[in-house]
Amino acid sequence: MADRLVETRDLKMYFRAGGSPFKPKFVKAVDGISLHIDRGETLGLVGESGCGKTTIGRTILRLYDPTSGKIYYDGKDITKAKMFPYRRKMQIVFQDPYASLDPRMTVGDIVGEAIDIHKLAAGKKERNDKIISLLERVGLNSEHSNRYPHEFSGGQRQRVGIARALAVDPEFIVCDEPISALDVSIQAQVINMFEELQESMGLTYLFIAHDLSVVKHISDRIGVMYLGKIVELAESNELIFHSAHPYTKSLISAIPVADPRLSRQRKRIILEGDVPSPVDPPSGCRFKTRCRYATQRCESQDPKLQEIGPGHFVACHNLDMVE
Ligand SMILES: Nc1ncnc2c1ncn2[C@@H]1O[C@H](COP(=O)(O)OP(=O)(O)OP(=O)(O)O)[C@@H](O)[C@H]1O
Ligand code: SF4
Ligand SMILES: [Mg+2]
Repeated sequence: MADRLVETRDLKMYFRAGGSPFKPKFVKAVDGISLHIDRGETLGLVGESGCGKTTIGRTILRLYDPTSGKIYYDGKDITKAKMFPYRRKMQIVFQDPYASLDPRMTVGDIVGEAIDIHKLAAGKKERNDKIISLLERVGLNSEHSNRYPHEFSGGQRQRVGIARALAVDPEFIVCDEPISALDVSIQAQVINMFEELQESMGLTYLFIAHDLSVVKHISDRIGVMYLGKIVELAESNELIFHSAHPYTKSLISAIPVADPRLSRQRKRIILEGDVPSPVDPPSGCRFKTRCRYATQRCESQDPKLQEIGPGHFVACHNLDMVE
């Protein structure tokens, strides 16, 4: 058993986006990402809409065939492997619990389907017992088993989605913005449940979110994405308190602070301009169109991730200028 459960090396996932047969255009959704997640660890991934978070999660699970680069799972190269044996070990919880559950199936059958596919129960009774124990594990009960998704609240539906992922006894779960669609009042409950499940089942998570305030508590390390690349990656507290990349700093300045005095002292960094299109990303540093520290070098040279402290990686040419 490798400590390093998941690893990607220079992973790229491009989607065809028009152009002519001779000059095709591609959305460079994931453009050279190298990361690893250790067994039992949570790696948080944040960044604006469209920066490639879902695509990297889905590519790691091989729901897409990568354009280039490598994916390793438990020390084995799975970039081109037959995935059926791994499907059980690697699961996903989706952002939208409304769209991801089949409205015509009962909750019992939604959870039971994965048990059937992987032949994880000997008979009807064992299957039923398993379904009930999974529902209880996520805070639901046996009575919920015969109901349909529309009879549940958003939070309960997300619990069903989690029970479905857990049905096959996975090791690794891509949690793709699992609380974004939920009412703020229940977000914390669901996050706590993810943490408890991780503890009791030894799970490893890639936890995707739009903003840092969601991932900062649950993640051991956090990666910040911008237009298909990781621009900064560090242990969570290090990233929050000693961020170095101008983009990370702007994300941190947007985290709400409960204390009004602190909030008055803090300066919010507002980014100007829009995220450029991933179809034709800018040359050099992709952040240059919105960066107030951009220099000539940023025009032409793409900054590589450099280790600036133990486990703290940043991709920026002008770190000495950044405040
Ligand atoms: N199947 C696909 N075919 C073509 N383009 C795609 C496909 N999936 C994603 N894209 C494009 O790739 C880019 C990254 O999309 P992705 O869904 O990974 O972003 P995201 O960071 O998850 O965004 P969000 O926060 O809105 O969920 C976007 O420009 C998107 O339009
Ligand atoms: S490399 Fe240049 S443009 Fe990119 S973040 Fe650093 S200073 Fe800004
Ligand atoms: Mg997404």
